[in-house]
Amino acid sequence: MVSYVRPVTELIRARRSWRTYQASRPRPEDAEQIRSFIAGLGRPPFGSRVRIVLAELGHTVGDRVKGTYGVISGARSFLVGAMDQSESRPEDFGYLFESVILCATSLGYGTCWVGGTFDRSAFADAVGLAGRETVCAVSPVGVPAKARSTIDRLFAATAGSHTRKPFAELFFMDDFESPMNERSAGSHLAALEMVRLAPSSSNRQPWRVLVKDGAYHFYLRRTPLYSLLFPKVDLQRLDMGIAMFHLEQTLCEQGVQGSWRTAAPSGDVRAGAMEYVASFVP
Ligand SMILES: Cc1cc2nc3c(=O)[nH]c(=O)nc-3n(C[C@H](O)[C@H](O)[C@H](O)COP(=O)(O)O)c2cc1C
Repeated sequence: MVSYVRPVTELIRARRSWRTYQASRPRPEDAEQIRSFIAGLGRPPFGSRVRIVLAELGHTVGDRVKGTYGVISGARSFLVGAMDQSESRPEDFGYLFESVILCATSLGYGTCWVGGTFDRSAFADAVGLAGRETVCAVSPVGVPAKARSTIDRLFAATAGSHTRKPFAELFFMDDFESPMNERSAGSHLAALEMVRLAPSSSNRQPWRVLVKDGAYHFYLRRTPLYSLLFPKVDLQRLDMGIAMFHLEQTLCEQGVQGSWRTAAPSGDVRAGAMEYVASFVP
């Protein structure tokens, strides 16, 4: 569990992907706070080694940030994250990087997960890429511009970023034939709603959660062929880690402690083509 100055539910609701920024850097004291937040991060659910830095990047073409294919404009500071994928789980990256994104949100900055539309090598020096590490994702940290650029609006519109799938399509009780809705979710409502509001690559929302015997079992419903579009990093497993962080942090702030285990539920839950990922056991 990490500690924010505002309830995580507020931060999750406030966060939006911003791709258009004023040409300024975070205030030095805020940058310092983000860096000490990163330095204090604990181990992620599967214990992978993830490195995240807040870097200042001066390379721009006009106001477009070099290496982002013109998608991000104005920003001068970026979170850059790297991991050796051969010995790590992508969910761990998603989990930790999202916790830092929400730290930047708590300080009032705009962010945007960028895992696909960027040139990984343009950010390699910023994170001091070593050995077999890959730059898995980056995010600008800055003050959003007054208006979104055309490309920003286009990205958000194409992904349908302002919408999420209905609760009953994502969450289930006891087996996958029994969808939950907001009324039947009871004490699980807040934590599951925070999963539903999570960002995901192309807003595909691949997370499914089965609540069974008091545990939250996370499954991945992959978007067919999506991994062919972005072969370097398994973005949908990053998405899973983000959702895992939202659930755990929300429960922890409600006083519910627990741990992550690889313990698929017993019995016939009819997961079909879904991949089991992990369970949060309070
Ligand atoms: C793992 C991950 C990778 C993403 N990669 C990109 C990207 O490469 N380019 C981009 O413009 N947005 C990217 N996004 C942002 C999503 O499109 C965005 O989160 C989603 O549409 C939901 O919108 P929201 O963040 O405003 O709620 C990514 C998001 C996630 C979680």
